[in-house]
Amino acid sequence: MTRKGIILAGGSGTRLKPVTNVISKQLLPVYDKPMIYYPLSVLMLAGIREVLIISTPSDLPRFRDLLGTGASWGLTFSYEVQHRPEGIASALVLAEDYLAGAPSSLVLGDNIFFGNGFGERLRCACQREEGATVFAYPVANPSDFGVVELNPDGEAVQISEKPEHPSSNLAVTGLYFYDAQAPQIAKDAVASPRGEYEISTVNQAYLKAGKLRVEQLGRGDAWLDTGTHQRLLQASMFVETIESRQGLKVACPEEIAWRQGWIDDGRLETLAAAMPGNSYGDYLRTLA
Ligand code: DAU
Repeated sequence: MTRKGIILAGGSGTRLKPVTNVISKQLLPVYDKPMIYYPLSVLMLAGIREVLIISTPSDLPRFRDLLGTGASWGLTFSYEVQHRPEGIASALVLAEDYLAGAPSSLVLGDNIFFGNGFGERLRCACQREEGATVFAYPVANPSDFGVVELNPDGEAVQISEKPEHPSSNLAVTGLYFYDAQAPQIAKDAVASPRGEYEISTVNQAYLKAGKLRVEQLGRGDAWLDTGTHQRLLQASMFVETIESRQGLKVACPEEIAWRQGWIDDGRLETLAAAMPGNSYGDYLRTLA
């Protein structure tokens, strides 16, 4: 069955208040585009065309306004409410009917990835039919994340959520590829001491079953955090630096759809025409 995507874009944006008082964190700009374009682009690069967007009751209509049906990008978007931010694993439960037995790729709406060859690694993860694939990234502050410990062969031996004494410096990023079992595994998960259904609990279940694969991202890759005002600004500056140097956009869904052959030149020109007198529209026009 064709893999489907899930973007979890809820939560209360506590650490970014007052900026997030009336707007969802994942709709804030990261330089020249809304934050959700970045994780959406990751799914698109993996070859995924059907995506479920999950957010809060008040924010979901805004995502619908922004993204619509997806048809103009050659995609199909669906929408689902998460009433309370009770944990990342709950996204898999909320998505169960939508997935209808299909494998999934779950990405957090505030995660930004950039790196050479990343698209190819995504496509490989997408093709694995059984088990789970997660991505590990070295960080200076592992206690703030899910942490994975690897053996010398690069196989996971332990996963823990925000450990006080981390056993490695490898954070588990917010991008997860799962087989069809994931919603059931998430349903069986028990809440953590902080009262959340942790995605690390789901990953631990795959690890225990010998079905967790860890892809290591390295020093040449960027996995950016948008969790604080400072890091959000740094993410914007990173994207601006790369884009102005290369003259190419990072995470432009229209461009990815066009390069994937999901939309033709005429459609790209129509999308550009909808943004006259605007550098984003100009970029689409130069591609077409
Ligand atoms: O970013 C990667 C990390 O994401 C992983 O290393 C951790 O294992 C994972 O637990 C998660 O940690 P965070 O502390 O970043 O999770 P946070 O609660 O901040 O949620 C991440 C995003 O997901 C955030 O934008 C809000 C959204 N979210 C979160 C929860 C718990 C929801 O939309 N609904 C939820 O119920």
